[in-house]
Amino acid sequence: MISPQTIEQIKNRIDIIDVIGEYVKLKKRGANYLGLCPFHNEKTPSFTVSPAKELYKCFGCGKSGNTITFLMDHDKLSYAEALKWLAARYNIEIEETQVSPEVKQLQQTADSLYIINNFAQKFFEEKLFNSDEGLQVGMSYLKERGFREEIIKKFQLGYNPSQRDTLAKVLLQNQFSKELLPRTGLVVLRNETEWVDNYRNRIIFPIHNTTGKIIGFGARVIGKADKAPKYINTPENEIYVKSKVLYGSYFARLAIDKADECLLVEGYTDVISLHQAGIENVVASGGTSLTTEQLRIIKKYTSNLTIIYDGDSAGVKAALRGLDMALEESLNVKLVLIPDNEDPDSYVNKVGSTAFKEFIAANKKDFILFQLEVMLKEAGNDVNKKNDLVNQIADTLSKINKAEDFTKQQDYIKQCSALLKIDEAGLTNLVNKYKRDRISKEEKKLPFEEANHFQEQSSETSYRDEEIILINQDEAHERNVMRVLLEYGLKSWDENKTMADYIFEELEQFHFDNPQIEDIYELYRKAYYQGHQPDAKTFLYHENENVRNLVVAITVFPHELSQKWDEVLEGMNIVNRDTSREDVFMSVNYYKLRKIKKMLEENQRDMETSAPLEEQIRLIEVHKHLKQVERDLTAKLGTVIIK
Ligand code: GTP
Ligand code: MN
Repeated sequence: MISPQTIEQIKNRIDIIDVIGEYVKLKKRGANYLGLCPFHNEKTPSFTVSPAKELYKCFGCGKSGNTITFLMDHDKLSYAEALKWLAARYNIEIEETQVSPEVKQLQQTADSLYIINNFAQKFFEEKLFNSDEGLQVGMSYLKERGFREEIIKKFQLGYNPSQRDTLAKVLLQNQFSKELLPRTGLVVLRNETEWVDNYRNRIIFPIHNTTGKIIGFGARVIGKADKAPKYINTPENEIYVKSKVLYGSYFARLAIDKADECLLVEGYTDVISLHQAGIENVVASGGTSLTTEQLRIIKKYTSNLTIIYDGDSAGVKAALRGLDMALEESLNVKLVLIPDNEDPDSYVNKVGSTAFKEFIAANKKDFILFQLEVMLKEAGNDVNKKNDLVNQIADTLSKINKAEDFTKQQDYIKQCSALLKIDEAGLTNLVNKYKRDRISKEEKKLPFEEANHFQEQSSETSYRDEEIILINQDEAHERNVMRVLLEYGLKSWDENKTMADYIFEELEQFHFDNPQIEDIYELYRKAYYQGHQPDAKTFLYHENENVRNLVVAITVFPHELSQKWDEVLEGMNIVNRDTSREDVFMSVNYYKLRKIKKMLEENQRDMETSAPLEEQIRLIEVHKHLKQVERDLTAKLGTVIIK
């Protein structure tokens, strides 16, 4: 891990204009810089960079973040890689910290597993190309299926001989840890003494992660699988996590980026055959339903996913299960079914590369409309079934939830209502109902008030009015307190104390409901009392992603509360002077008022239950006390507003 000192050094050197300027032509516009957004296609610039806040935001597509998230997003770097990129740019030497023993252990295990896998891959490859058995059994099978040597080498395929312990022997001779060996799935221990190969007499498909390291293997029987399973896969271990594996992602990533489309097939052999045919933007799911993690890998490279499955229902059903998640990840999903009991591998071998590509282009179906057609056929004239179907489609469409997808959702509503022969406005209402239901379910906390959306100065705001913000009022107040602390904490409140002192004093008895805000608040307080000078930037580059995101959200999207303050302040005719003190005062005291009101409500509920007399009396005392605090606060706030 990179040491906090190094991160601090990097942070101090970051010049957001300089870094983003590498990628985007920026023009100065007042305090900010403006350019064409690198994250979506646009002709008029709406990508804004604020050097003061060290943040960027696109008012077209909504992307926002700091210098590090920019590099992560734009160049597909990890957090650590982005830091290293910056360190290299500013000639900062990287100091690595001591990691905890547990983490160290984990890293060591992972490293050892990579080393064993690498060793085994070389062994398998050597056997396939240079042993009699490998050539006669393995290679001839692969050749018979139409795989050429070049592609076999590229995907690093191999062969595990049929003798019971060829690999096991070599692994032991090389003194690999007997504790770790079983975790690789390559060999198993029989009768506590006998090590035997697990993938005997099988073709080996190494599985690479996105950076090209071998995380595991798929091992296929030669020819038909009668008794044994067709494939054996690596068991889950420190480096092979099934839900995160997309076979072929390493070989496909550049092609996916270039084509701005990812093809998804089921099997290893489908990926390899398509590559051989010159179609390289392809990955395989391994025949199970897609996971959110897999979709996120794809989403890093493209928003366009084309699923190519054979027409048999099992695969399609599995794919359908991934649909709602794909929508939530804002992916445009298309589906192509391969006819006549073929799969992509056999089909491309049969018809050739050009015809295959033409077939895909001509037969892409929109996934949602496809699903609807299938279900419509199933429902026939049954009114109840059709009713269920309308609800199901509305539920699905309600998951298209991001502001930038609004037009897409409208299109779907139009097309689906036509197919269903129902009123478009009716379907719109139903979709919105599902959206609200889910939000209130997620929010749990009641009462939920739909917040007014923060209006942005964008030319494309019209649809944004529809956006439902996922913040309830309690959270809005908490964020608002955090915002003023980050923004003004170090300024002085009066001759004796800073704004931060004032805030800490006033809120001593309270704690935040949102654990992340509570965390940042505590981090701030600790840093502040240790004599540091924390501000938003301190947390903008925090190693915890949730902390970073929350700070970005709080500082980039000052929401409706601070807007209301602005209105009040405007009414007071003091907009042209520094209003930070009023901002802090109102943010803190409205938050307190909100808390007190909630406590009153709770107390009220307790009073309504029949409790023993002493308890009743206590509750009444509490009520009186809270009421007094409430009056004081209201008066305090009132004087400010009237003043
Ligand atoms: P070929 O039959 O050699 O063309 O392989 P395939 O990749 O086309 O296999 P298939 O379409 O039958 O299955 C698709 C994918 O599901 C495979 O690539 C494997 O990842 C997985 N799979 C298939 N059979 C098995 C099995 O028996 N066990 C396990 N664990 N996975 C399997
Ligand atoms: Mn196949």
